[in-house]
Amino acid sequence: MYRDRIRLKSLWGKVVSPEEAALLIRDGMTIGMSGFTRAGDAKAVPLALAERAATERLKVTLMTGASLGNDVDKILTEAGVLARRLPFQADPVLRKAINRGEVMFVDQHLSETVELLRSRQMGPVDVAVIEACAITETGGIVPTTSIGNSATFAILAEKIIIELNLTQPLDLEGMHDVYIPTRRPFREPIPVVTAESRAGLPYIPIDPSKIAAIVVTRKQDSSATILPPDDETRGIAGHLIEFLDREVRQGRLGRSLNPLQAGIGTIANAVLHGLIDGPFHDLTMYSEVLQDSTFDLFDAGKLNFASGSSITLSAGKYAEVLPKIGTYKGRLLLRPQEISNHPEVIRRLGVIGINTALECDIYGNVNSTHVNGTQMMNGIGGSGDFARNSHLAVFVTKSLAKDGAISSIVPMVTHTDHNEHDVDVIVTEVGLADLRGLAPRERAETIIRNCVHPSYRELAMDYHRRALQRGGHTPHLLEEAFSWHLRYQATGSMQPRAKAAE
Ligand code: COA
Repeated sequence: MYRDRIRLKSLWGKVVSPEEAALLIRDGMTIGMSGFTRAGDAKAVPLALAERAATERLKVTLMTGASLGNDVDKILTEAGVLARRLPFQADPVLRKAINRGEVMFVDQHLSETVELLRSRQMGPVDVAVIEACAITETGGIVPTTSIGNSATFAILAEKIIIELNLTQPLDLEGMHDVYIPTRRPFREPIPVVTAESRAGLPYIPIDPSKIAAIVVTRKQDSSATILPPDDETRGIAGHLIEFLDREVRQGRLGRSLNPLQAGIGTIANAVLHGLIDGPFHDLTMYSEVLQDSTFDLFDAGKLNFASGSSITLSAGKYAEVLPKIGTYKGRLLLRPQEISNHPEVIRRLGVIGINTALECDIYGNVNSTHVNGTQMMNGIGGSGDFARNSHLAVFVTKSLAKDGAISSIVPMVTHTDHNEHDVDVIVTEVGLADLRGLAPRERAETIIRNCVHPSYRELAMDYHRRALQRGGHTPHLLEEAFSWHLRYQATGSMQPRAKAAE
C-alpha cells in the first residue's frame, strides 16, 4: 500500500508505470535527477528511458547530485542516452565513454551546480526525477537517503516525476533540512552556525501542480564497496590521528576537534574509524557523504552529531542501520549539497577536510581527477569545496599505486585540482607533511622526506637538488617535470630501471 505515503490525495491519480512517466522525457531535454554517491537515486525511470532509446533517438543532459547506484550510469551510457553528464560520476563504463569523447562530462564543484542553474548560467531543467519516501499534505517532497541537488532541481523544473520508494523507511522523515539560499547579490547569510543548526524545512517545497507523474518503486540503494583497512590505510590513519593529537596538545584544537569532513572511499573511511580509539570525544561531522564510519563513531559514543548530504553504506551496514535509522534522529541531518559544501559555512565552522588525492607533487599541488593528466577518473566532487575553505585541508594517498609502478608523489602533477595554496597537510603511509607556513622549497623537502615511498625518495631528492641549482621560487626542471609519467607510459613503471612493458 502506497497511498498513505501520498498524503495529498489529489495526487493519487498521478501514479503511473515507469514507462509512462519516462514518456515525459524527450530527446534533447535537460534532466535533474536525485542521487548522491549511490544514495537516494532514481531507480526506475532512467531504466525505462534506456529501454526506449533502443527504438528511438533519445539523448539528454543528465544532472544529478553526484554518482549513481544500480548501474544507472552504465545502463544509460550503453543505451547511448547520455549526451552530457554533470557534475560527478564514478562509473567505469561511463568513465570510458567520457574518455573516448562520447559523453561530454562537466566536472564541477558539487556546491556550484545549482547556483549556475538558479542564475540561469546553465539550464533550464525540463524534468526533475526525484526519489521520495513520502509526499506531504501540501505536496512537499520528503527525500530519502540523500538530498544532493534534488531540492533545486524540483523547484526549477517545469515538470516533476516522483519515484516513491516503499523500501525507504518513513523514519527518514524529519532528518532533512532543506534550506535554499536567497537571491544574489543581496543574499542573507546562511543561518548554519553549528553542524546541528536547522535552517530550513524537512521537505522540498514545490507547487504540487508540477508533479506530472508518480512511480512506485521497491528497489534499494546500491551499497558502497569499502575495502577493509590494510597496513597502508591504517598507517595513514595513525599519522593523521597523531597529528591531530599534537594540534590539541599545542592548543590549536580542542579534544572535540572541529567538525570533520571525509571524502568517499576506503582511506577516508579508515581514517574516521581510527578515531574510534583516538583520544578525542564529542566529535561532530559537517560532511557530504556519511559512510559506515559515521555510524560506528555514533555507536562507539564518540560522535555527537553528523550533518551530510547522503548516507552511503556498505551492504552489511545498510542492512543494520536503515531499519533503525529512527534511533539516530536528532543526531543526524541531511542537507542540500550546496549547503553541506557551502564555502561560507565550511569557513565559518572551521571544518577539517580530509580528501583523497590520485597524485601530489613535491610542492603540494594535488591531482584528484586525471590519470596521466588526461584520463578522467571520477571528478573533483566536493573535495575543492572543502579544501579551499577548510580550517585544515588534508589530502591522503597511498605513496604507491599499481604495485609500486607509480609513485603518488611526483615532481609535477599532470593536472591540478587543488593547488599548493589550498593544501595544508599531505599524508601517506610513510608519514605526514605539515605544509602550513612553508615556502615551496621547504614544502618540497618536507614532502620528499616524510611522504615519498623509500623506493622513489632518492629519485625525488635528485630531481629537487638539480632543480634548486637552476633556481626560482618553485624550482623545476621543466624538460623533466613529467619524465616519471612518460617513463610509466613507455615502460610500465616510473622506476628508471624498469624494463619496457611487453
Ligand atoms: N596514477 C594512476 N592511477 C592511480 C594513481 C596514480 N597516481 N593513484 C591511484 N590510482 C588508481 C588506483 O590504482 C586505483 O585503480 P584501480 O581502480 O584500477 O584499482 C584507483 O586509482 C583508485 O585508487 P585508490 O587508491 O583505490 O583510491 P580511492 O578508491 O580512494 O580513489 C580517488 C581515489 C582520488 C579516485 C577518489 O577519492 C576520488 O574520486 N576523489 C575525487 C572526489 C572527491 O575527493 N570527493 C570528495 C568528497 S566525496
